[in-house]
Amino acid sequence: MTKRIGILTSGGDCAGLNATIRAVALRAQHGYGWETIGLQRGTLGLLSRPVAAVPLDPRRLDAALARQGGTFLGSTNWGNPFAFPMPDGSEKDRSGEMVEGLRSLDLDGLIGVGGDGSLAILRRLMEPVDLPFIGVPKTIDNDVHRTERAVGYSTAVAIATEALDRLHPTGASHDRVMVLEVMGRDAGHIAMAAAIAGGADVVLIPEVPWRLSIVVDHIAILRRTARTSALVVVAEAAGAAEQGRAETEAVPAESSIGEQLAHRLTAATGAEARATVLGHVQRGAMPTAEDRLLASALGVRAVDLLAAGKADRMVAWWNRTVIDVPLEKVVGRSRTVDIDGAMIRTARALGICLGDS
Ligand code: F6P
Repeated sequence: MTKRIGILTSGGDCAGLNATIRAVALRAQHGYGWETIGLQRGTLGLLSRPVAAVPLDPRRLDAALARQGGTFLGSTNWGNPFAFPMPDGSEKDRSGEMVEGLRSLDLDGLIGVGGDGSLAILRRLMEPVDLPFIGVPKTIDNDVHRTERAVGYSTAVAIATEALDRLHPTGASHDRVMVLEVMGRDAGHIAMAAAIAGGADVVLIPEVPWRLSIVVDHIAILRRTARTSALVVVAEAAGAAEQGRAETEAVPAESSIGEQLAHRLTAATGAEARATVLGHVQRGAMPTAEDRLLASALGVRAVDLLAAGKADRMVAWWNRTVIDVPLEKVVGRSRTVDIDGAMIRTARALGICLGDS
């Protein structure tokens, strides 16, 4: 009997989601003769009646889809099913409606593509449903536990690196300190990787406590002895790791960490500093070949797990191969930059200042 499996993308979008959806539908059709249903707008589509879902025809899932950014199914990082924000300002548990919507699709399995937050929500949502669920990790932040790579990270790093490649010549032409603020939520993976690949002079991440005075000294020495410009990368959450900041120090109130840093570096070094806040540009791009490969490998494995009768697991990239791990070991945890790991060692060995020594 032909089986029907569902796939949804949930949480913030990133590059490689379409390649994941494509891989799932192709593997389901070619490997097992199964039909794949695409659930639209993440969990939000489960509240519509009929549920917002479309059958995915593998003949239409060509190479163009693999290279397309975003997710053609749509996604949401809004509206926790268990405390859903209502128009009157109250919160309501709407998980029952979503479960009912899910049941109406008559699926034999569900694949959810999400980051740690979305995977935790989906797992909880699936508890009362007798439906095997497999998670696929995606997030530019690369902070999902028990996988070395999440779909979307490689593309975000490539974009942040390209931004540094572009900031370097303009900074050098004007003797400026160029500050690049990158995303990453509470993890500094994008910042560290881009700083190394893009030849930054300074990188500030939430995992390493830093002091402005150390950054200022580093830039001052650099400007005296080597060159007049500098490249600084700062992760969006790095502010939390700053040590010894004077509470009285004035900074523009509404500005981001990157803008604040540029302002403070100008005041402290006398150099002109400019900030670029990269923002959602890191999410919306065409996926790198690496992200397309990862998406394809993880998507295929997710379907194979359903075929093998597995449930409540996440596919993962580990030690140069695809594995799967229990979802309970993934949710509620986060994988931040290893402060004794290769990335930090490499950055220090290249003379990149982390603001701590
Ligand atoms: O988790 C992905 C991410 O892009 C983070 O890096 C960033 O902090 C956040 O999402 C931005 O979320 P939003 O799109 O809701 O502004």
